[in-house]
Amino acid sequence: MKAIILSGGKGTRLRPLTYTGAKQLVPVANKPILWYGIESIVAAGITEIGIIISPETGEEVKAKTGDGEQFGAKITYILQDKPAGLAHAVKIAQPFLQDAPFVMYLGDNLVQSDLDLFIEQFKSSHLDALTLLCPVANPSAFGVATVDEQGRLLQLIEKPKNPPSNLALVGIYIFSPIIHHAINSIQPSARGELEITDAIQALIDQQKAVEARQIRGWWLDTGKKDDLLEANRVILDTCLQSQNQGQVDERSQIIGRVQIGTGSTITNCTIRGPVTIGQNCHLENCFVGPYSSIADQVRLVDVDLEHSVILQGAKVEGIHHRIVDSVIGQRAYVKEAPRRPKALRFMIGDDCQIELN
Ligand code: DAU
Repeated sequence: MKAIILSGGKGTRLRPLTYTGAKQLVPVANKPILWYGIESIVAAGITEIGIIISPETGEEVKAKTGDGEQFGAKITYILQDKPAGLAHAVKIAQPFLQDAPFVMYLGDNLVQSDLDLFIEQFKSSHLDALTLLCPVANPSAFGVATVDEQGRLLQLIEKPKNPPSNLALVGIYIFSPIIHHAINSIQPSARGELEITDAIQALIDQQKAVEARQIRGWWLDTGKKDDLLEANRVILDTCLQSQNQGQVDERSQIIGRVQIGTGSTITNCTIRGPVTIGQNCHLENCFVGPYSSIADQVRLVDVDLEHSVILQGAKVEGIHHRIVDSVIGQRAYVKEAPRRPKALRFMIGDDCQIELN
């Protein structure tokens, strides 16, 4: 079995953070979203992975993710010249996939799922397609499925105005090579894309073995600031393990689960986990509270923060109020003049410079 991860498209959802970058590379608990998908696929025993990339953000995805060695996989990059739809991405991946069954994984998805369990069910039931579903409160924002009691998929509609159920497609699919024939038989939708839902519907119409299963774990959105903070909280809560590879002075206090990367120095700080701090950071006279992720090369001096995400290379200095529920973009610079009133809440994009005078 092989896998493809769709990491093309335009990075436009988490503006301004992804004006300049791939949305699949936005870090959650200091790890790009895309890497969670790669790790889950490798954990299911699949090592041949094709990643669909776009001309706009592909080089960044490649540079960050590499040839797969660090994941124990072999990654092949497949360039999609325009975001012509999920089924179009499968079409251009066909030379890579050949006639292997495969997992298709949307690279901007953060899903806790036992992929190996679903692969086992796909194999043992000799299915042509298996889609993973999750009940949601706002099904109109997703592909929506109707399923019978045996788990057979009856109908799929992409972002329906009147959803027939609350079961959304989470963006993980397992296919036999027969899907390529179905994709060749469909036409672009009204929005001009080759839809994977139409291809799966074609399989259903041909009475092929198409089933769906509900995931049991979390499925996290990262499209907006509060979603990203919530995803960060859940991952830190469930996955973080303590590890200190940095230098912590004797005036500092580390409480609970805290991860500190190599080259980072913590001076006169209190860090109350779960917190992850990347490599080569400098933290001095700070309180860092629960559910915070500090990326590599961040400098925090005289700062009190919690439940926040600080991205690579950002500098925050001399803030006299607690920073909460905030996302601070890469290389952003935040500095406060003495005696500022009121609480501060930020959504600060890459390369910003903010001084509160
Ligand atoms: O998040 C789950 C939803 O994902 C499903 O419920 C929908 O059925 C499915 O269509 C998809 O909807 P989105 O609106 O979230 O799709 P988006 O355009 O964001 O693309 C999903 C991923 O696939 C993202 O990482 C970008 C990538 N992509 C997308 C297109 C259209 C490609 O690599 N190539 C493409 O042509």
